[in-house]
Amino acid sequence: MEDAYRVVGGKPLKGEVKLSGAKNVALKTIIAALLFKNQVVLKNIPVINDVVELIHLINGLGVKASFTDTNTITIDPSTLTSNKVDMLHASKIRVSFMLFAPLLHRFKECFVPNPGGCRIGARPIDRIIAGMRSLGVSLAYNSQTGFYEASMNKVRGEFTFEKTTHTGTELLVMLAVLGTNTVVLHNAASEPEIDDLIEFLNASGAQITRNGDSVTIHGVSELTQNEPFAITNDRNELVTYAVLAIATKGDITVGDIPRSHIDEFLKMLEKTGGGCELLSDTRFRFFYKGHLSPTNIETAPHPGFMTDWQPNWAVLMTQATGESTIHERIFENRFVYVAELEKLGAKIEYISPEIENIESFYHFSVNKEKPDEQAIKIIGLTPLHNAVLRIHDLRAGACLLIAALVADGESIIKGSTILERGYENIVEKITSIGGDVSKL
Ligand code: EPU
Repeated sequence: MEDAYRVVGGKPLKGEVKLSGAKNVALKTIIAALLFKNQVVLKNIPVINDVVELIHLINGLGVKASFTDTNTITIDPSTLTSNKVDMLHASKIRVSFMLFAPLLHRFKECFVPNPGGCRIGARPIDRIIAGMRSLGVSLAYNSQTGFYEASMNKVRGEFTFEKTTHTGTELLVMLAVLGTNTVVLHNAASEPEIDDLIEFLNASGAQITRNGDSVTIHGVSELTQNEPFAITNDRNELVTYAVLAIATKGDITVGDIPRSHIDEFLKMLEKTGGGCELLSDTRFRFFYKGHLSPTNIETAPHPGFMTDWQPNWAVLMTQATGESTIHERIFENRFVYVAELEKLGAKIEYISPEIENIESFYHFSVNKEKPDEQAIKIIGLTPLHNAVLRIHDLRAGACLLIAALVADGESIIKGSTILERGYENIVEKITSIGGDVSKL
């Protein structure tokens, strides 16, 4: 296999797509399952490269975990026997550092390497480490070995995140869920994926409540599952198919995502003039209904316009008439796709908007100087043509696939394994709605 796709674009995509379970819930519930006493069964788990990598990683810790049915994983946490995470596997998947929680609960001390994953910006874990320390974890990084060495007795206290962090909130929730104390997290992130993890834990005996951006965790003595837990569908996948429908002048129905999880996306879609019919509270028909207007987007934590959606949106804006802007506030280095879209004929320039307080505006840590390349201007409408492209990160992968399906002619996209870290059966799903995509 060539790790590439061949795409023939220029056709409207039409039909219904069944969404898969959310990657960013699947990964966390699998890790959280290691906190349980007995067997855990998780349903609606997507068969994607990141999940497969995570299963390898926990298998390496002795854990019996595997797909036991279509999209169903069975995990036996009693088989967790090692407190040292393998560096090679961990380097392939960023959430590996979340293993701190189950390993510290089981062994009181553990060894976890620096996280890997998609290279979108520096992605440090300094705020997460500050939170762990504040709750009572002793932690040191050994630069000789590349491992964090951590130990913990009891978890207690309150912690206020300096800036919100999605996985940081989840890790501290997992650290506090077992025990005899109460932990309160302030300025906690509020992405719906976090609440799905909380729902999973609460369904098994945890006592976690959210009040706005505060999360209170009363420690419990054990977590036991009574019935399998089905994780929520992937809202990022929904956005990809919605954009695909409109950008290819097609008509695609997708479902089972609460409207409140994609509110900001729907608002921007209305602004640009994309068609959306609400078939129920959770089912949507997205369709092209004519001329698209330019938009100005700033990415933001939930309930704002999500960073994971902006690469898809950039393609749509190449098909809008006029100048659109996208300002990325969450991650550094999330515009690597720009050079690739330019190969297809897109007209995009980096811009430098005025910002009053750089430090509070951006969610990554900024060192005094305003970072370059955090905002772009897209000049539309541009007909896209074929090209040979390379995927550099997961969401950029979806963006390039959409763009190649809009473009006239045959394109080659290299780096399919990166896209398949997060998109299940993408070739089959796109083929089923009339797209011409094949794996080389
Ligand atoms: N940050 C720090 N220090 C920290 C923690 C975060 O500087 O200790 C920075 C990050 O580098 C980033 C910003 O703060 O610039 C926000 O990071 P956050 O921790 O909120 O994001 P994350 O947990 O790394 C998760 C998802 C992302 C999604 C974001 C926003 C997972 C595995 N990843 O990342 O998903 O974009 O939240 O919702 O849940 C993806 O699926 O492709 C993806 C990148």
